[in-house]
Amino acid sequence: PSILVLHGPNLNLLGSREPGIYGHATLADIDEQLRTRAEQAGIVLETFQTNHEGAMVDRIQAARADGTAFIIANPAAFTHTSVAMRDALAAVGIPYIEVHLSNPHSREPFRHTSYFSDLAVGTIAGFGADSYRYALDAALNRLGSAPD
Ligand code: DQA
Repeated sequence: PSILVLHGPNLNLLGSREPGIYGHATLADIDEQLRTRAEQAGIVLETFQTNHEGAMVDRIQAARADGTAFIIANPAAFTHTSVAMRDALAAVGIPYIEVHLSNPHSREPFRHTSYFSDLAVGTIAGFGADSYRYALDAALNRLGSAPD
């Protein structure tokens, strides 16, 4: 794919998971919206969700060889814990935008640090499912494929 969207642990439960914080959209809803929008811009977008840190590292490593030009990543809880996922993104050197549905800075102190923000092109957080859409628009702009 030209754009790879990564979703970390527990995001498979979106829609039913703490909807007051994360909203009612399911992950399938979000992925479908992103794929459609990218398609309109002539860009192939693939999505990947895992609850497993090693599987996330493997998928990021594979992105080096599969034509991925840009990554949109919601590392979820890995945001605050995973040096391994951070190192994988650094290793492949593919530019990425960090995304969060909620605004981690308005939540518990342990969510205020991210292993990803300093290496990211930018971070979009706090807009629910729209956070992903804004990130996609930014990625399409970067790739020179912004939709009308
Ligand atoms: C999250 C915020 C993280 O702190 C949390 O662990 C998540 C989701 C978000 O999208 O708001 O699982 O990344």
